[in-house]
This record gives sequence, C-alpha cells and structure tokens, in this order.
Amino acid sequence: MKKILLTLGLLFLIAPLLLVWFWNMKYPELHWDWNAIEAGDVQFPHDFLWGVATAAHQVEGDCINNNWSEWERARDEQGRPRIKNAQVAGKACEHWSRFREDIRLMQTLGVKAYRFSMEWSKIEPRAGEIDSTALQHYHEVCEALLAAGIQPVVTFYHFTHPLWFEEKGAFEAAENIADFVRFCELLFREFHEQVEIWCTINEAEVVAAQGYFTGMFPPGKKDPQLTALVLKNLLSAHVQVYERLKQLPGGAQAQIGIVKNIMQFDPSRRWHLLDWAVAHQLEALFNESILNFFRTGHFDFNLPGMASVQHKDGRAPRSLDFIGLNYYSHLHAKFDWSTSAFFTFTFPEDAVMTDMPYTIYPEGFYRALQAVRQLGVPMYVTENGIADAKDDRRAVFIARYLYAMHRAMQEGVPVRGYFYWSLMDNFEWAEGYAMKFGLYEVDFNTQERRLRKGAQVFLDMVKGSRE
Ligand code: BGC
Repeated sequence: MKKILLTLGLLFLIAPLLLVWFWNMKYPELHWDWNAIEAGDVQFPHDFLWGVATAAHQVEGDCINNNWSEWERARDEQGRPRIKNAQVAGKACEHWSRFREDIRLMQTLGVKAYRFSMEWSKIEPRAGEIDSTALQHYHEVCEALLAAGIQPVVTFYHFTHPLWFEEKGAFEAAENIADFVRFCELLFREFHEQVEIWCTINEAEVVAAQGYFTGMFPPGKKDPQLTALVLKNLLSAHVQVYERLKQLPGGAQAQIGIVKNIMQFDPSRRWHLLDWAVAHQLEALFNESILNFFRTGHFDFNLPGMASVQHKDGRAPRSLDFIGLNYYSHLHAKFDWSTSAFFTFTFPEDAVMTDMPYTIYPEGFYRALQAVRQLGVPMYVTENGIADAKDDRRAVFIARYLYAMHRAMQEGVPVRGYFYWSLMDNFEWAEGYAMKFGLYEVDFNTQERRLRKGAQVFLDMVKGSRE
C-alpha cells in the first residue's frame, strides 16, 4: 500500500514535468541565428504577385455611416474616448479623391496588385438602397488600377458595416448573414470582370475577439459566449458567400478566400505548466478553431465555464480557392492570478519591439506559413508590415520577414503573393493615427505622401524578382 501511494505521489510530481518537457519538444519557439543569415540574398519567382494593402475606413475619408464612425464618437462608461487621443478617422488619407495619385505611388513601388475594401456603408447607406455613385467610384478605381498594370484585389468586409446593419445586431444574429451575402453578390456581379481575387472577410477572429471579448473594437462588448457565436456566424457567412458567388457568372474563374490573422501564443515561461495551459487555450480559440473548421468542417469553440459553441458545415473545407494570411507577430502568455482573465502578455527583454505591442519575430511568420499550409490551398500573404514612426526598424523587418517567407516557399509552402501593410500611414483603428505602418509617410495636414527610406528594401526585392 505504502509503495503504491509512493508511486502515485511520484507520478503526481513527475507528470507535470513530463508534460512540460513534451510540450517543449513538440512546440519549440523557433529562433534563427540572424548573424549567420544573409536576409536580403533571396530571389522570388518572376510571377510572384507583389502588392500593397489598405482598407476603406482607414484611408478613404468620410466613412461616417458605419459602426466604426459611431464608435469613434462614443465614450466608455468612465466618459473616456474609445480611440487613442480621441481621434476619429475623419478625412483619413482622402484616398477617395486621391486614388489616382495613390496608384502612381504603387507604380513607383513596382507592385502589380492592390488589396483594398469597398465600403458597404457607402454602397448601401440604407438597407436595400444602392448608391450608384459609390459603385461608379469603385469602377473608376478598378479601371485606373488596370490601366496602370495593377490588379485589383477586393475585400468585402474589413471591420466595417453600415449602421443599419449594426442596429439589427450585425453578425450576432445568424439571420443577418443574408444581408451580407446579398451585398457580396451585388459587388461580384458589378466587378467580376475587373476583379479576379476576392477576400470575403478580413480577420473574423479579430472582429470577434476585439469586438466581443476585449471590448476594444465596436460594439465594445465583453461576452465570451457572444464572441464564439459571432465568430461562428462570420465563418458561416464566408461559406455562404463562397457558395453563392461560385454560382454566378464569372464565379468559377474567380479566386475566393478568407483572410486569417495568425498570432501565435507561446508560453512566457517555458518551464511553467500554467503558462503552457494558457498559451494552448488561446491558440485553440484564436487559431485552431478556425483552421480546424476549414480542414474538417467542424467548428468547436470551447472556453470552460465561459463559452461553448459547436457548429458543423461540411462545405467549409471546399470553400477556399486560397487562404489569405495576415501576420504581424506572436505573443507570450503568462498565467496571472491577479487579473480577471488569469493571464497577461509579456515581452522578452531582448526582443526588438515595433511601435505596436508586437515584437519583430520573422520566425513566427515562417511558423504561420507552415501552419496554414495544412489547409492544402494556395496562399496569399494579404498583410504584413510594421508600425515604425522613426523608420529605424522597417528595413530590417522587411528583409527578415521576406527571408522567412522565402524559406517557407523553398520548403514547398504554396505562397502566390505578398501584400505589404500598408501603402501609406492611415487610421489604425483603436490606436488612431499614432501608428505609422506606411511605406509612404503621410502628412495629415497637407496630405503629402513621402516614400520612407525603410521602404527601399521592399522596392529592391520587388524589382529584383523581375530581373
Ligand atoms: C488589420 C489592419 C490593421 C493591421 C495593423 C490587421 O489586423 O487587418 O486593418 O491596420 O492589422 O494593425
């Protein structure tokens, strides 16, 4: 008896150690020796699709009839503004009227594709009412792009929707998905001759997590069960849009995909069982639930005691002509009793930070590309970039992230194109205008655009791949 108790006691002590050891082996946090790597010394295929990306609300100006404009005017329970420095998107980059000038900027970069979104609240300001001048505007944008030798790549949903849709509960209610499908169908019928690559939804996981879990984005709710439901509805909306568009004229030839943000969660202390537990849980909710849905048709979002949503849709694995990957960085999760969520994020002391609370971590980009590869479809990197107001890290960031992508491609990851975020500085959501993601710096008083020095690496790489 004594022996059994002793063995059990030992096992009880050893099991967590073994588990931590096993996880350390199975999920290494990759780090390369950059001193031994010549990052700029890579050559991409001739037909690789180089592009830049923006989103309507962040650049166009006068988006005043959507959920974000309302959020920018709102105050929290303590009367504080929702956006840093109480900023509003306002005129943004005036891209709506300056798009021709901005297309010339793209030509200077040498890119052959432009990913942007068409603003639902401008096209359908009231339910069922279509503004033909807005449609005409986007026709002009597409024509000007094509004339410049740049392929338009359109996102249907990039964080914003009209107020009337918000008032109905937006993606909280499954029955509202039909409105979104109708909107996508309208755009597809209008533009399928000009646009070949379509992104349905930008970062469903970010919309759900920031809008319904952290409350940092509209509608500012903090409700785990609703987070899960909204995520499920957004994924379901993607599948429904895909199915519908494929039946339309031009549908078979079009490339339709969803855009997934991958942010890996690594444990802050690799020897700590609870840090591993938190990292695994976050990874399961933010990344795995979605990748698994597109792999198997099963959506399973489970946060013990807080949220549980299961959903099956056998069409999901066949609903991607490509997957769009947005990658910025990873996060270190640390178990922490003192916070309501029981965890915090930490940043390694030796890490190089960007202006956002993200470290520069190109190895994570490589890991993300390898992870998304499991879906077995072609990939576009639909966003990657750095907020760097001083422009003293941008060049290194670009060189190393492109190196990481090249390395993944060498190992067979089917990346077809890369879109830098962003063409120019713009309205960075809850961060307002503080974050400078642009290859071009924008002076928001004069609307003057100036190419940043740090952007040169990108220009050289684009040019180099054509030689
Ligand atoms: C979003 C962009 C945003 C970028 C930088 C992505 O999550 O799609 O709209 O500006 O990250 O934070």
